[in-house]
Amino acid sequence: MNTLKIVVIGGSGLIGSKLVKQLREQGHEALAASRDSGINTLTGEGLAEALRGASVVVDVSNSPSFEDAAVLKFFETSTHNLLAAETEAHVGHHVALSVVGTARLSESGYFRAKIAQERMIKQSSVPYSIVHATSSSSS
Ligand SMILES: NC(=O)c1ccc[n+]([C@@H]2O[C@H](COP(=O)([O-])OP(=O)(O)OC[C@H]3O[C@@H](n4cnc5c(N)ncnc54)[C@H](OP(=O)(O)O)[C@@H]3O)[C@@H](O)[C@H]2O)c1
Repeated sequence: MNTLKIVVIGGSGLIGSKLVKQLREQGHEALAASRDSGINTLTGEGLAEALRGASVVVDVSNSPSFEDAAVLKFFETSTHNLLAAETEAHVGHHVALSVVGTARLSESGYFRAKIAQERMIKQSSVPYSIVHATSSSSS
């Protein structure tokens, strides 16, 4: 089997922790990245080192605050820093998790932030996949 280094940004979160577990079960080297583990997408702390040698980055991070301005700033800043670090590290693929219906829900601040995130990913030179899922707050 082809073992990949896959960095999961938000790897300690609701979705990220399950993803890291499944990737490891499949034999991949999955790095769970979050502020807890010294990797901060807002400041860039620890990003370059975490991404070294990575084939794929999966972004399942989320804003600690859902207030309109804060969530927009979170997704704009973290997506910008992440894509720049991925370009520098020659990461082969960026995967992001978005929400079903995002494009039609621009009256919500959270969805406007997700639209901004998707736009930045599409404009970047890093090959990408954007997965749209419905929301769940439980395991
Ligand atoms: N949950 C759902 O049902 C669902 C459905 C569709 C799409 N999504 C999307 O999936 C993503 C993840 O959702 P979730 O519910 O799993 O989120 P979550 O449980 O709130 O987890 C968020 C993760 O982001 C990390 N994080 C926050 N700020 C960070 C920073 N500055 N740098 C690095 N990591 C940071 C957190 O860890 P630390 O606090 O330690 O940094 C945590 O690991 C979101 O983008 C959301 O839009 C979720």
